[in-house]
Amino acid sequence: MRAAAAALLPLLSRGFQLSPTSPLARVARSSSQLSMTIIDKPYGEWESPITSKAMTAGSVGLGGVHYCNGDIYWLEGRPQEAGRNVLCKYAPESADKSERNGVDVSPKESNVRTRVHEYGGGAIVFGKNEDEIYYSEFATQRLCHLLKDGTSRPITEEGDTYRFADGVVSDDGEVIYAIREDHTNPEPKNVVNEVVSINVKDGSMKVLATGNDFYSNPRVNGNQLAYITWNHPNMPWDATELRVLTLDSTSNKSSEHELIAGSDGDTSIIQPLFHPETGDLFYISDESGYYNIYRKGSDESILPMKEYDFGGASPGWQFGQQAYTFLNDGRLAAQYSKNGKSVLAVANVSDNSKVASDVVEFGSKDGLPMMFGGVHPGEGDDLYFLGGSPSTASSIYKWNLQSKGEASILACSSELSFDDDLISVPKLVEFPTTLGTAFGYYYAPKNGKYTCTTESAPPLLVKAHGGPTSCTGTSFNAGKQYWTSRGFAILDVDYGGSTGYGRDYRRRLRKSWGVVDIDDVCAGAEYLVKEGLADGDRLCIDGGSAGGYTTLGALAFRDVFKAGTSLYGIGDLTALAGDTHKFESRYLDGLVGQYPEEEDLYKERSPIESVDTLSCPILLLQGVEDKVVPPNQAEMMYNALLKKGIPTCLKLYEGEQHGFRKAENIQDAIDSELAFYGKVFGMDIPEAVELKVDNI
Ligand SMILES: *[C@@H]1O[C@H](CO)[C@@H](O)[C@H](O)[C@H]1NC(C)=O
Ligand SMILES: *[C@@H]1O[C@H](CO)[C@@H](O)[C@H](O)[C@H]1NC(C)=O
Repeated sequence: MRAAAAALLPLLSRGFQLSPTSPLARVARSSSQLSMTIIDKPYGEWESPITSKAMTAGSVGLGGVHYCNGDIYWLEGRPQEAGRNVLCKYAPESADKSERNGVDVSPKESNVRTRVHEYGGGAIVFGKNEDEIYYSEFATQRLCHLLKDGTSRPITEEGDTYRFADGVVSDDGEVIYAIREDHTNPEPKNVVNEVVSINVKDGSMKVLATGNDFYSNPRVNGNQLAYITWNHPNMPWDATELRVLTLDSTSNKSSEHELIAGSDGDTSIIQPLFHPETGDLFYISDESGYYNIYRKGSDESILPMKEYDFGGASPGWQFGQQAYTFLNDGRLAAQYSKNGKSVLAVANVSDNSKVASDVVEFGSKDGLPMMFGGVHPGEGDDLYFLGGSPSTASSIYKWNLQSKGEASILACSSELSFDDDLISVPKLVEFPTTLGTAFGYYYAPKNGKYTCTTESAPPLLVKAHGGPTSCTGTSFNAGKQYWTSRGFAILDVDYGGSTGYGRDYRRRLRKSWGVVDIDDVCAGAEYLVKEGLADGDRLCIDGGSAGGYTTLGALAFRDVFKAGTSLYGIGDLTALAGDTHKFESRYLDGLVGQYPEEEDLYKERSPIESVDTLSCPILLLQGVEDKVVPPNQAEMMYNALLKKGIPTCLKLYEGEQHGFRKAENIQDAIDSELAFYGKVFGMDIPEAVELKVDNI
């Protein structure tokens, strides 16, 4: 239930916009031209250079950072090339400016992307050097060998029904161990996932582990192959097993492979990794209540930071995530988040006795941006990682552990740059809610050219992230700064169920989706009103996909918000239960209840069943070709609001599915949202787009 266009995720569900001229706005503009005097203007009516156009121009998605034999590689998702994913290599001297310091390595027209679990990840396989790079080609889902001359050679058969992900190359370079997903019979219940070996010369395959619903992370050391496996209805953050098979054994039944961790059926094990020198097997487990790092054979976590989650922001949604690594000197380097800040813990793990000695922590005071893409050792003490900060969009960084200087940017996902006095820096807030406390990031209105002395508090836009088992991020996002630079406050809520706050917090959403998340977005808004940071008469909420469900639920079942915008929000849970791909086909069992046995619960929690209780203005933004949330759901809500005389607007975008991909539609969505709030609250938005709102 995350929007399909992963590369565009940072752009989705953000508000944006510019608007028409009123006498007031004209005064403001002329005075802003005169000097640097600060203009006193109502919140929400400020002008900002962070426009919807600026937001979509020149930005790419970055991922897949990897260091291989002296070179640093990454993947670029390019909206300007219809979302194509390109493997790039850092080469500042041969790159032209538009290429972000990298040169394209994958063949022209190829799209490096796997469809395993639909969300993919782990589409590239790196061996020891540049002769051993393999990737999954999106159009055919065949595994291809990248050749020196810039072309590639498919190694798996044409016309087969397999998809591949998360591969590693054997020591001798002869086979790839990978996850294979078989769509011979494409019904979700008949799709087969297995661990296989693939001969790189002739493409012949052998099934190494089979019998369970899901597999991930095949990792090899000598004749030992470790992997993660789990079964429906679990998701990888619910319960998994870590197993090891001996490669020359004849059994490929998972149940006969050695069980290392996750035996109680209630523990999530992720990211196994062998130490390259000692061969010790490490992994992350949430058995203590937090995702901590363990070594096989010890039941005590290896690092002393026991009350923090390691493993990255959204473990399990995609393949290829690895939030810890081993440095060239054998030490462990692991990234985790502490009170909203990124920390790198480096520890000597050579001593087999339990907790590591010599743990050194590097955090923001050392100039480290928020890391979120794993850590990759380079030469000597160099580290590479994907990260960002409130003023820097996601970027590939190089950092030297020894010198502890600033991390330098090799490639940035965005060409935008704005003055610091336009950037609102988020603050982690904790607020009381039904189940204790919940978390969110508060962004104050910020624009160096403006102030507001005539209103006691700004309008607030509450944002609900997708997932729902995921969390929000704090690196620069033009789709948030669009609002704050115009005088809105933002609360980006990590509602109960979000990752990064321990297992209990993550499990708050068990059987409670549509209850706990809604409690928390409401409680967050009310908290900011109480603190004097938000105007209680101008509370808005928006979200896309799963976040759109929370948004619609908050609007249908509660009275806290005064307006809202649903971007392809899920209105009908029963429709979702009946129609989804294998990976998520049982996700709702855990979030809501068994289907169809507990259909009543599904109905009760579906906003579409409660259109009669919708009582505030709602803007509905919907793709015409959306299969996850068919347009008729938005139409039903629109018609109900229309009949009740409540201000509303439905915008249908041709050629869009679940998650908008086209620049013009992404721009129109955010511009329409701003114009909508302007009309609903009687704000005079400068240069607002034309928007026809009914019942106003
Ligand atoms: C492993 O499992 C597959 C089914 O996926 C089966 O066809 C094959 O014969 C098995 N191989 C071995 C070596 O047991
Ligand atoms: C790790 O500790 C061992 C002794 O406990 C020592 O011999 C080794 O040099 C240390 N490694 C590093 C990289 O400091």
